[in-house]
Amino acid sequence: MVSETATKDDIRRFWTSLYESLYEDVDRDLTREQLFRSLEDLEDMFRFRGHMAAVEMPLAELAGKRVLEIGPGAGGHSALFARHGAVMTAVDISFDRARATDAKFRLMDDAARGCQALQGDTENLPFADGSFDIVYSNGVLHHTLDTQRALDEAFRILKPGGRAVIMLYCKSSWQYWFNIFLCVGILQGRIFRDGPNWVGRATEWGGKKAQTVANPITRCYSASGIKTLFHRFRDVTLRKREFYFYLIPKLGRLYRRYQIRRYGTHPGGILVYGEPWPIQSPLELKLGEIMGFAWFISARKPG
Ligand SMILES: C[S@@+](CC[C@H](N)C(=O)[O-])C[C@H]1O[C@@H](n2cnc3c(N)ncnc32)[C@H](O)[C@@H]1O
Repeated sequence: MVSETATKDDIRRFWTSLYESLYEDVDRDLTREQLFRSLEDLEDMFRFRGHMAAVEMPLAELAGKRVLEIGPGAGGHSALFARHGAVMTAVDISFDRARATDAKFRLMDDAARGCQALQGDTENLPFADGSFDIVYSNGVLHHTLDTQRALDEAFRILKPGGRAVIMLYCKSSWQYWFNIFLCVGILQGRIFRDGPNWVGRATEWGGKKAQTVANPITRCYSASGIKTLFHRFRDVTLRKREFYFYLIPKLGRLYRRYQIRRYGTHPGGILVYGEPWPIQSPLELKLGEIMGFAWFISARKPG
């Protein structure tokens, strides 16, 4: 699924352009008070969804822990962990995204003491072996050129006994087989037109402006693929979540309108999606456990 010609520059360009489209408006005028309120909303949304940021991440035990977030996006997750006392380092390949994350730490001031965000690459992390208690990454490592190398780097910079909390896309899911493979790949003919990285081209945009840059890489993993990636770790646990009817191509748009009327939206989406999150129905929450698109993974470095 990887385009042979994709480069790190392509990856950087795509994610920077999506940042401008999704988050710039939200970040431009963000005040300290709004940020703290939004972080409470974000945590509430994560708890409702059973997201790993509030389940696998030990929020109540983060105080003083050295935590690395790989690919923080606009910085919402990192700011939440800092709010719980973690000493955060965040590394993103896009300078604009690293800057947006750092700006949130600066707004938090004393509440994010010692926290920093830098531009960098998950495949070559600029840290000594055994530097962090926890490595956290939500929906990032399946977008880099060499995912195994990224996992090996995460392993290297963890302290012995440290934990990785990682979300990767799930292949054995409705989103992959029905929405992506059947509807987009076969019926829209993208498999035949877009070459080996057609899945990348078919996923991720969701920006507020028209897309001008293609997403170079998206990969999806089976449970056995995850076991292979995490072969050096111990106590690997997997949880499947995240199912949305509104992602069904075309028809999903109608459902989304109904969903918002029926269940409303949650303000917790603002920091991480640039807009309120349409609340999932109880049926979608249940289906997520069976055929969701996210693997929430927790693993321990031996020692
Ligand atoms: C789907 S976004 C997820 C953002 C954030 N984790 C969230 O959940 O909102 C993917 C993120 O990974 C970053 N990224 C992609 N490839 C990367 C790499 N090789 N090294 C570091 N960051 C990378 C992108 O810039 C982007 O911020």
